[in-house]
Amino acid sequence: MSGRHFLQIPGPTNVPDRVLRAIAQPTIDHRGPAFASLAREALDGVREVFKTTGAVVIYPGSGTGAWEASLVNTLSPGDKVLMFETGHFATLWRTVAQRLGLDVQFVPGDWRRGVDPAVVESTMSDDRAHAIKAVAVVHNETSTGVASRVGEVRQAMDRAGHPALLLVDTISSLGSIDYRHDEWRVDVSVGCSQKGLMLPPGLGLNAISEKAIAATKSARLPRAYWDWAPMLADNRSGFFPYTPATNLLYGLREATAMLREEGLEHVFARHSRHAEATRRAVCTWGLEILCVNRDEYSSALTAAMMPDGHDGDALRKVILDRFDMSLGTGLGKLKGKIFRIGHLGDFNDLMLAGTLAGVEMGLAAAGVPFKRGGILAALDYLAT
Ligand SMILES: Cc1ncc(COP(=O)(O)O)c(C=O)c1O
Repeated sequence: MSGRHFLQIPGPTNVPDRVLRAIAQPTIDHRGPAFASLAREALDGVREVFKTTGAVVIYPGSGTGAWEASLVNTLSPGDKVLMFETGHFATLWRTVAQRLGLDVQFVPGDWRRGVDPAVVESTMSDDRAHAIKAVAVVHNETSTGVASRVGEVRQAMDRAGHPALLLVDTISSLGSIDYRHDEWRVDVSVGCSQKGLMLPPGLGLNAISEKAIAATKSARLPRAYWDWAPMLADNRSGFFPYTPATNLLYGLREATAMLREEGLEHVFARHSRHAEATRRAVCTWGLEILCVNRDEYSSALTAAMMPDGHDGDALRKVILDRFDMSLGTGLGKLKGKIFRIGHLGDFNDLMLAGTLAGVEMGLAAAGVPFKRGGILAALDYLAT
């Protein structure tokens, strides 16, 4: 295939040339002075994106590792954790918690809406003995394109006067959708490199509140690699307790500089504009958007439902074979039922136009019933 592949899955996302060039530098001594300033700049950059002035740790690892870190540093075996079945990733996080020996109270969901703050409030109010030690929420459920309202979850916990920790998965929202670690008093925010931060996979992130650091003193889940204490101690002088992902840190420093140059508020506005254009295209095609609540639409991706009798993966295969574009598959119980259009990260109007053109041509080529004109609806919106 000539030309550039269209990587329109909801992460890993397109890595900008500037970041690729930053990564392509000689690896340096991770115990030398040049490394210390790189690490400090990368940590400061990522702090800005989390909107925190507090502690941040960067692991060589994937998001799943950063999930585990959020739990093992703050909780003890048998502790009760309140989680919500918003989709595939919330379900996977629950599995991690259960395997670690935590007692998960899993609020069932239909994978089409986010965490209901009213349920948070009533559950926490009913828990008078404060048995629940942590509430864990996936901000942007990448499997469904539904964004939970984390600020409202925080307010619900406050109204209930409950002291539980608030753990939030920001993996596909960080750097794409407004996120405020300090203002929402999140105790652990879990992130990773390959989504809105526009990096290749390979870094797992935790932003950590003072309250979470205090919780480590009594937390008894076993922890070694994921232990915050040696990481925070060594980071103070710009170093790591083990070999860091040096070249990805070059990339992180560059990517956070790019986000700063554009301005986070502009980055969020760009994402929400592309999401709106995408939804207009999907609705014009006559396909249903999986997310049912308008105030929970994700700016990072849109999940479109397939008409009955048509398979999302068959459509994705046609689009990959004919137009060299990768779209997100349906995960877990959504397999075959949806396809997901990623519109996050390093992305612009013409990339979106190309993406939607690929989908519209693909729908026709795959024999999926739809109404033409989705691209035009999106272009009209983008042109205003
Ligand atoms: C919301 C969310 N949480 C967690 C993960 C797991 O991250 P990783 O695959 O990097 O371990 C993903 C991956 O896509 C995700 O989208």
